[in-house]
Amino acid sequence: MTTIRLPMMGLVVLIGTTGSGKSTFAATHFGPFETVSSDYCRGLVADDVNDQSASTAAFDLLHHIVGVRLARGRFTVVDATNLTRSARASLIALAKEHDVLPSALVLDVPTQVAIQRHQARTDRPFGVDVIRRQRAQVPRGVGALRKEGFRNVYLLDSEQEIADVEIVRTP
Ligand code: GTP
Ligand code: MG
Repeated sequence: MTTIRLPMMGLVVLIGTTGSGKSTFAATHFGPFETVSSDYCRGLVADDVNDQSASTAAFDLLHHIVGVRLARGRFTVVDATNLTRSARASLIALAKEHDVLPSALVLDVPTQVAIQRHQARTDRPFGVDVIRRQRAQVPRGVGALRKEGFRNVYLLDSEQEIADVEIVRTP
C-alpha cells in the first residue's frame, strides 16, 4: 500500500498518457467536482471531448475553473495528460498565485497496457502511435518535477501500485 499525502489546500496535477487510468483514478479517489478534466472542458466548449481544435479554449476554461476553485480554497485535481512542461508550468503558476501547494501524481503503466486499454475503448478515435509518443514524454524522475515546482511528487509506475493507493489529505 502506497500512502499518498496531499495537502488539503492544494492543487493535484495528474500526469499520464491516454489510457493510463487518470480519469478512473480520479473517480475512485476524488469527488466529482474536485476533478476538473480537459475532456469535460472540451465538451463544454465544443460538444465533443475529442475535438483537439478546441484545446486552446478548453484549457483556458480549465485554468479559469481551477483558479476560481483555488481562490475559494477548494481542493482541486486536474485530469489531463499534463505531459508537457508548459502544461504543468501554467498549473504550478495558478497554485502559486493562489498560495496553495501543487502536487504531481504520475500514473505510468507499460505502453502495452495503455494500448490494450485504448483498443478496448470506443470513445477515443485516434491510433495507438499517440500512446507511444506520449509514453516517451512521461516524466521518470521525482527530481525534475520537484525542480519544476511540485512540492509533493508521486510516481506510480505499475498497475499494482496504482491499485494499492491510499490517499490521505493533510492539513
Ligand atoms: P485519457 O482520458 O484518454 O487521457 O485516458 P485516462 O488516463 O483518463 O484513462 P481512463 O481512466 O479513461 O482509462 C482508460 C481505460 O482503461 C478505461 O477503459 C478504463 O476502464 C481502463 N482502466 C483504467 N484504470 C484501470 C485499472 O486500474 N485496471 C484496469 N483493468 N483497467 C483500467
Ligand atoms: Mg481521461
